[in-house]
Parts: sequence; C-alpha cells; structure tokens
Amino acid sequence: MQIAGTLISLCAFLFLAFINAAESAQIMGAYPALFIFGDSLSDTGNAALEALPYAMKTTHLPYGETFPGWPSGRFSDGHLLVDLLATHFDLPLPNPFLNASADFVGGVNFAVAGSTALNPSCLTSLKVKSLTNLSLDVQISWHLKFKAEVESSIGLLKGSPTEAAFAEALYVIESGGNDYVYAYSAGYTPSFINFTLIPLVVQKIQSAVNTLISNGARNFLFVTITPLGCLPALLSRYNGTKDSIGCLEEYNQASFLHGAHLQTMVETLRISYPNDTFLLMDFYGAYKYVQNHNEEFGFVKSLEACCGAGDDYPYNYNADDECNENSASLCSDPTAYISWDGVHFTDAFHVQIFNQTFITGSFLDGAHKALS
Ligand SMILES: *[C@@H]1O[C@H](CO)[C@@H](O)[C@H](O)[C@H]1NC(C)=O
Ligand SMILES: *[C@@H]1O[C@H](CO)[C@@H](O)[C@H](O)[C@H]1NC(C)=O
Ligand SMILES: *[C@@H]1O[C@H](CO)[C@@H](O)[C@H](O)[C@H]1NC(C)=O
Ligand SMILES: *[C@@H]1O[C@H](CO)[C@@H](O)[C@H](O)[C@H]1NC(C)=O
Ligand SMILES: *[C@@H]1O[C@H](CO)[C@@H](O)[C@H](O)[C@H]1NC(C)=O
Ligand SMILES: *[C@@H]1O[C@H](CO)[C@@H](O)[C@H](O)[C@H]1NC(C)=O
Repeated sequence: MQIAGTLISLCAFLFLAFINAAESAQIMGAYPALFIFGDSLSDTGNAALEALPYAMKTTHLPYGETFPGWPSGRFSDGHLLVDLLATHFDLPLPNPFLNASADFVGGVNFAVAGSTALNPSCLTSLKVKSLTNLSLDVQISWHLKFKAEVESSIGLLKGSPTEAAFAEALYVIESGGNDYVYAYSAGYTPSFINFTLIPLVVQKIQSAVNTLISNGARNFLFVTITPLGCLPALLSRYNGTKDSIGCLEEYNQASFLHGAHLQTMVETLRISYPNDTFLLMDFYGAYKYVQNHNEEFGFVKSLEACCGAGDDYPYNYNADDECNENSASLCSDPTAYISWDGVHFTDAFHVQIFNQTFITGSFLDGAHKALS
C-alpha cells in the first residue's frame, strides 16, 4: 500500500483549519441560507459564467426549456435538486458565486460543473485528467474569502447574509462523481475505484467538512453520487455485466460504495459533534427506487437521454455530439425521461428524487432532523 500512503499525503488534508467559530442555537429544519459545494448536478451557473467550453451549451436552449423557460447555466431542462431544496426552505434560488451582481442573502452556490472532489494535482499523479481546476478545495477557499469579506464589512455589503447565518446555514456538499467518471475515462476499473479512489475522495470531503466546521458551520447535507452505470454516457462507452434494468452492474456497485463510505463519515461526525446536524441525501437509493418503479412515476424512458444525437446512437447519446441547440433529437416530453442529456437529469426526475428524500424522508438519513 505504498502508493496509497503517497496518495493520501498528496490528495487529502491539504487544507488547514482556520479560527474557531461562535456557537449559536439552531432551529431544526429552518435555515437562513444555503452554501453549496459540488459539480454540474448543483451548479446554477458558475461554469457558464467562467466560460468553461463544455458549459456553453447551458447558455442555449433546450437547456432550461422547462424552467425557467430560458437557458440559465443549469445542466438540465429545469430545476436542480438545490433549487428544490432552496424553495422547500423558503429561500431564493441559489445564485452562483461568480455572478458578482447577484443577491446572496439566502446563501451562495459555489458548485462548478465538471469539478472534482480531489485536487487536480492529485488526479494528475494518477494520470487522471479533470475538465477544470475549480475543485472542492477551490470552492471552499471561495467560501472562506466570501465569509471574511462579509465579516469585515458587516452592514456595508448589499445582498449578503448576516454574520449569524454562517453558523445557522445548511452546507450542502455534492461531490465525487466526476472523480470516478474521469478515472474511468483514464482506463481505471470499478475495482480501482472501490479500493483506492473512494477512500481518497471521501477523505477529501471529510477534510472540507473539517475546514467548514472550524469556520463555524454546524449543519450539513451530503448527497451520495448517482448510479453511474445507468448514465447513457457510460453505457455507450463501457461493456460489462448489466443488471435487470440494463445498467452496468460493477459501475453501480462502486457508486453504491461511495455512499456507504459517506454514511460511515456521517455517523462518525454525529458522534464527534452531537449538537450539530449531518444529513445524508441518498440520491443513489432514491434513483434506484424510482427507476425500479419507473412506469408508476411516468418515466417510461428510464435509460435513454431526452436530448441527444438521434436514433442512430444507443441511448440517444454520442459523446462527440452532445445535447445542444442543434441536436438531432430532442424528446417532446422530458417528464417521460430520467436522463436529460446523457449525463444530467430532467426537471421531472429531480422533482421525484426530491420527493423521495426531503418530502417523504424515505431516502434521507437523519430525516427526523430535516423534516419539521
Ligand atoms: C446575475 O445576477 C443578476 C442579479 O440577480 C441577474 O440580473 C443576472 O441575470 C445574473 N447574470 C447571470 C449571467 O446569471
Ligand atoms: C489547471 O491549472 C494548470 C496549472 O495552472 C494549468 O496548466 C491547466 O491548464 C489548468 N487546467 C484546466 C483544465 O483549467
Ligand atoms: C466494489 O464494492 C462493492 C460494495 O462493497 C462490491 O459489491 C463490489 O463487488 C466491488 N467491486 C469490485 C470490482 O471490487
Ligand atoms: C463492447 O462489446 C461490443 C460487442 O461485443 C464490441 O463491438 C465493442 O467494441 C465493445 N466496446 C468496448 C468499449 O469494449
Ligand atoms: C452540546 O450541548 C450541550 C447542551 O447545551 C452542552 O452541554 C454540550 O457541551 C454540547 N456538546 C458539544 C460537543 O459541544
Ligand atoms: C411524493 O411521493 C408520495 C409517495 O410516493 C406521493 O404520494 C406523492 O404524490 C409524491 N408527490 C409528488 C409531487 O409527486
């Protein structure tokens, strides 16, 4: 395990803790702000504002056609889970950090499409290429900078949260999926993901949590990764044993294992910080449930992308010709689809996943603390 030792020093714990935080009472279930860290499943415009080439398609229809009705920088036809979460807590839709003129009273969205949990230097040491350097550490550093700015100019900055909101806010971390997708692209197997990459990624998330806690964060929501073996993007690229639904079994097992490691992390955090809140949104579990009951939920097309390269391509997906304004094929009814563009999900699917987690509590670990 020499390689593992080297990787741990290179890949984890690069972040140092800052000052300790003020304590404050927490009303369970009511949060004055959301601070969001993650990738394209949570990004409401940062990658597009940064003009990252792969994000420019989200500045054109059909992205956003269902909601808000125009392209908004979201990788979907409509709402993301973080939009539904914000609405659930009566907060404004999460604004992207890179929009300098946005209102951040209800929190900030630091998520960047294409980003990884691990630092690009760590991934490079494994010969894994990331599409962007704006990884979890960078997003955390943006948050600390933002917090310091608010604290040094209380009452002067317009559209910023109160100082107390930093302790009372819900910190959402949805990260890791791209680390695995990029590793598969570099030729790694699900077994490598299982034994080497997942522990590193979850340690990285843990170190981000430690940094946030040392800076006053008290309430967290972690989101598990989706069953990657069900994505048209992977189904069209890799061979392997398929499950009864037609997803790649080993890729799904590895995705499941990421969630199991997160669960262990959450249980340990609850013991270390008994007065704080640690929720785990099981996107993986909710996804499998909805997929297994797809007809009941109206998702008659449970594996095919709504927007893609056309019938000549299995799953309506071609990596060299992804969904864009000129796509050969755009479905007329996205509510019948789980997959929006082969990598990301439809508004309708997000609504159901949110229902299975935050509304019914079925796939929300710690639900008793979140549903009030
Ligand atoms: C940035 O925020 C402002 C204020 O909410 C909004 O009017 C504008 O459309 C946003 N710009 C982008 C590119 O999202
Ligand atoms: C990441 O940063 C390195 C070093 O600054 C740079 O050479 C590289 O082009 C960047 N990669 C991306 C995808 O932005
Ligand atoms: C990865 O871990 C999962 C969960 O423990 C297990 O079911 C699966 O067989 C493992 N896959 C490989 C390729 O080792
Ligand atoms: C997957 O299997 C099919 C049929 O056996 C083969 O044509 C194709 O080249 C394989 N693809 C990959 C990526 O191995
Ligand atoms: C949790 O709160 C209780 C009651 O306010 C307090 O006695 C205890 O020290 C707190 N525990 C930690 C770990 O902060
Ligand atoms: C949420 O799920 C419950 C239980 O499956 C169902 O009764 C309800 O209609 C769902 N709500 C929406 C908005 O689909």
